[in-house]
Amino acid sequence: MSENPETNTEDALLKVTGLVKHFPINKGLLRRQAGAVKAVDGIDFEVRRGETLGIVGESGCGKSTMGRLITRLLEPTDGRIEFEGKDITHLGVAGMRPLRRDVQMIFQDPYGSLNPRHTVGTIVGAPFRLQKVTPEGGLKAEVQRLLSLVGLNPEHFNRYPHEFSGGQRQRIGIARALALKPKLVVADEPVSALDVSIQAQVVNLLDDLQEELGLTYVIIAHDLSVIRHVSDRIAVMYLGKIVELADRKSLYEAPMHPYTTALMSAVPVPDPRRRGAKSGRILLKGDVPSPISPPAGCRFHTRCWKATEMCTKVDPPLVALKTGHQVACHHPENAPDQAPGDPALPGATEAVATATE
Ligand SMILES: Nc1ncnc2c1ncn2[C@@H]1O[C@H](COP(=O)(O)OP(=O)(O)OP(=O)(O)O)[C@@H](O)[C@H]1O
Ligand code: SF4
Ligand SMILES: [Mg+2]
Repeated sequence: MSENPETNTEDALLKVTGLVKHFPINKGLLRRQAGAVKAVDGIDFEVRRGETLGIVGESGCGKSTMGRLITRLLEPTDGRIEFEGKDITHLGVAGMRPLRRDVQMIFQDPYGSLNPRHTVGTIVGAPFRLQKVTPEGGLKAEVQRLLSLVGLNPEHFNRYPHEFSGGQRQRIGIARALALKPKLVVADEPVSALDVSIQAQVVNLLDDLQEELGLTYVIIAHDLSVIRHVSDRIAVMYLGKIVELADRKSLYEAPMHPYTTALMSAVPVPDPRRRGAKSGRILLKGDVPSPISPPAGCRFHTRCWKATEMCTKVDPPLVALKTGHQVACHHPENAPDQAPGDPALPGATEAVATATE
């Protein structure tokens, strides 16, 4: 939904409208379709040039699927994807070739995504060979330049992935992604497989490279601790939908969606003055419902302490309740109630427990 008054399509590098990905479930001897995993179920957003858009949400909410759709590693079921104003939704292999240079992906598992039998030089040089591009100054010099760019020893181009640490391997993945000077980099959980002590280094590297190379990022993470430092804007996903989309400051200072509030309260408070005080930590009860048959109405109603009758029937649209701040909720926090007077759902408030530290 692009009702955000701040929307400036001219700035949009990538624009996504009504994006859907359903994975069919086939059963029986005839492999008849018995249903579908609604991994991404109608999302709208845009990525502006030069920004970092953070995507956050619990496991299984569709973040990776969304990442693979916008990099066109997956074919969308429905909706539209535009890159620099061009419709790329259903481009075939040939049509995608020029785009493969412009849009790159960094994966969570720095080991699994690097071929163990190839040297680092071969891995980082692969995009040039695939795109049949000869870098100025030759391939080896360019690979070495990329290795130093990401903080690796350029003399190590003949080594194999297993000779590097996890953090270094992720740097190799980053060097490979940046080889062809992409415009958009989609990083799917780029640091979650790394030691906490290494995470900040890799995040800082991504940050520095963005400034140096004028990159635009979509960074996917399952918790807010990584996202909060690097994102200009943040989209919160729940069961295949975006439930809140706002600039970082607005999201942190005044989150509107109850789910965002819950996610934020799960992040430990580093401020020692607040330690020991009542943390107001919200513990969501129950598991995330199945994306095969998501709850009717607002998908979060089975876990929401603010749910009313209406929430079980009407899916709240994602609308801007403040400049630059969109939310999909009938009864948002920090904003006027969108459906005042609607009768509370029996037992809704029991869906949450507040704890003290
Ligand atoms: N190829 C596939 N076939 C069938 N179902 C799939 C496929 N890929 C993903 N799914 C399902 O789609 C839903 C969303 O998965 P996805 O990997 O996008 O979530 P995620 O938010 O990235 O989760 P995580 O934080 O665990 O990485 C899940 O229920 C998942 O099981
Ligand atoms: S619409 Fe209702 S159930 Fe959904 S988040 Fe808002 S208050 Fe909770
Ligand atoms: Mg994922």
